[in-house]
Amino acid sequence: MAGVTLRSLCRTFTDSQTGNTVDAVKNLDLEIRDGEFLVLVGPSGCGKTTTLRMVAGLEEATAGEILIGDRRVNDVPPRERNIAMVFQNYALYPHMSVYDNMAFGVRLHRLKGLAWQLSHAQEAREIKADIDRRIQDVAEQLGLKPLLDRKPSQLSGGQRQRVALGRAVVREPQVFLMDEPLSNLDAKLRVQTRAELIKLHRRLGVTTIYVTHDQVEAMTMGQRIVVMKDGLLQQCDTPLKLYHEPVNMFVAGFLGTPSMNFIGATVKRDGDGLKLDCGTFSVQWPTARGAGLQNHIDRKVILGIRPENIHDSQFVPSGVDMINGVRLNVDVIEPMGSTSTLFLTTNPVAQTEATMEVAPNTLVAVVEAATQAKERAPLDVIFDVDKAHIFDPETEQKIA
Ligand SMILES: Nc1ncnc2c1ncn2[C@@H]1O[C@H](COP(=O)(O)OP(=O)(O)OP(=O)(O)O)[C@@H](O)[C@H]1O
Ligand SMILES: [Mg+2]
Repeated sequence: MAGVTLRSLCRTFTDSQTGNTVDAVKNLDLEIRDGEFLVLVGPSGCGKTTTLRMVAGLEEATAGEILIGDRRVNDVPPRERNIAMVFQNYALYPHMSVYDNMAFGVRLHRLKGLAWQLSHAQEAREIKADIDRRIQDVAEQLGLKPLLDRKPSQLSGGQRQRVALGRAVVREPQVFLMDEPLSNLDAKLRVQTRAELIKLHRRLGVTTIYVTHDQVEAMTMGQRIVVMKDGLLQQCDTPLKLYHEPVNMFVAGFLGTPSMNFIGATVKRDGDGLKLDCGTFSVQWPTARGAGLQNHIDRKVILGIRPENIHDSQFVPSGVDMINGVRLNVDVIEPMGSTSTLFLTTNPVAQTEATMEVAPNTLVAVVEAATQAKERAPLDVIFDVDKAHIFDPETEQKIA
């Protein structure tokens, strides 16, 4: 097994007709540890697939280096990189059985043509027996044993996905590359296959780079997550570190559902401390975290607060400072069962439908399901500002 190192990796595409260029991946520096499960996540077009394809050798790097273990592989052809790739469209051979689908690639790799097999009959037999052992073993692990004789057309989507996975596992690669492998599955099967993949990784311990644009998948599967945007790495860290300590507004807004609320505010002095004037209301900023804001007094900033850190004042968890109470208007309530999602406005409730629609000052709160909140009525909420973030409106970087 081996880790993967990317050094200042770039990929630029040039449109052959217009001559326009797209920088799909920009200066990517990344060290994926041996045995790690790393998730690349980001919106469509941010460069995830291109990155993976460069590691696989299916796409040439415009600049930079790719190392698998200690070996620089930029000029090594894909089949010699000892990696296995699982794609969204898993492309099984329709005329082959599950068994043969799993055997095909590894046979091609290890048995060197018919002439060689004839002249090395004994060796070829041993290799075939070894491949068979591996297939039986992997089929057992992935619950494919009863399906080995079937054709892909006789399988469900989830079963086909497992065959594609099995085919990759049988090759015993140094590195797995997976590009949205679960996106063809329905919601329930996704959750199930997600858990299977995590267990499989635990068992095999093979370095895995997993691409998704689903942040839930990223949070639940990744030992570390890389968030990308426009070809640039935004932040790389453990799921909880990214969630609680995002470096910029993009990362803060990308992870978490519903997304973080962003509120325009002006930093003001408030006695010895600081407060954030949000227009129709203001909140005190914790003194202990004031240092980062001293240079921003009387300047505009953005307050970022997650929906679960805006509490119904009747249900405030212990330990939350009650100091920042705000009266807002409840626009819509979405009961989720275990919690309720509230859409709150800072304006008076009496508005026309038209102005409601464009109201920019809607905040989302996730509160206790037992909330007594009523639509189109005021509600007192507590902002847990201790868990909030302050961003620079121009650079969008976190400042406090
Ligand atoms: N062969 C190509 N020629 C020109 N541009 C390309 C090519 N392949 C990718 N791109 C561009 O590079 C950028 C990154 O594409 P990439 O496929 O890596 O995105 P992605 O993050 O995988 O997105 P998605 O989530 O939609 O799969 C996009 O702007 C895309 O249009
Ligand atoms: Mg892609």
